Amino acid sequence: MKIAVVGGTGKEGHGMALRWLRAGHEVFIGSRDAAKAKAKADELRAIVGDTAKVQGGDNVSAVRSSAVVLLSVPYSAHGETLQSLKAELADRIIIDITVPLVPPQVRRVHLPKGQSAALEARAILGEGAQLVAALHHVSSLHLAAEHDIECDVLACSDHEAALEVAMDLIRDLGARAIHAGPLANAVALESLTPVLLHINKHYKGPGVGIRITGL
Ligand SMILES: NC(=O)c1ccc[n+]([C@@H]2O[C@H](COP(=O)([O-])OP(=O)(O)OC[C@H]3O[C@@H](n4cnc5c(N)ncnc54)[C@H](OP(=O)(O)O)[C@@H]3O)[C@@H](O)[C@H]2O)c1
Repeated sequence: MKIAVVGGTGKEGHGMALRWLRAGHEVFIGSRDAAKAKAKADELRAIVGDTAKVQGGDNVSAVRSSAVVLLSVPYSAHGETLQSLKAELADRIIIDITVPLVPPQVRRVHLPKGQSAALEARAILGEGAQLVAALHHVSSLHLAAEHDIECDVLACSDHEAALEVAMDLIRDLGARAIHAGPLANAVALESLTPVLLHINKHYKGPGVGIRITGL
């Protein structure tokens, strides 16, 4: 599958792109700066090998040429990025991993005006958007490493077909994907990340995650 990673030059996008390339997917790294994205694509090819199907360019080109879009930008850039890509995102499956953190208080839950970043994304893109909220709890430290991802990945959406595609892609990252209900549940998913960041700091454990039991 061809996946655009908007903000793919960043920490989280790097790890996801790396794992999807290793799983045989095609990745288009997107950036506000095409040269920066091309450099990231070269870096990923050097890690994965010459068979890696990866390219880099501006965010619009990345979205235009892909079926699935991972949105991986800081919350401060979330609304603006979605507005700038609204036309191109119209018929794409969008996996939004944004956590509405408010630095420097990143260990405290912050509910944004629209209750959650994913619900704000839907308000911008429209009710029909094939929007999935997921991957808020997987640290970039784990994504960039070679080990399996031990934590579960909760994914929610109002669009079942999009959710199925996203859950398959999450499995391809090496994690267990869990159906977490409608997009409204993104409020809870996004809110858990600051709690995990607190636990990281309190117990000095880099990259803690969650595991659902009883399944
Ligand atoms: N890091 C983690 O462990 C982690 C875990 C779970 C979820 N998340 C979520 O994943 C998202 C990305 O996190 P990250 O750590 O990868 O972030 P990051 O490295 O700080 O930024 C990712 C990319 O976003 C773009 N960006 C930065 N500022 C921007 C702005 N003002 N306007 C438009 N684009 C901007 C940049 O790409 P260009 O300059 O190339 O355009 C940057 O490389 C966040 O929403 C975060 O909450 C992160």
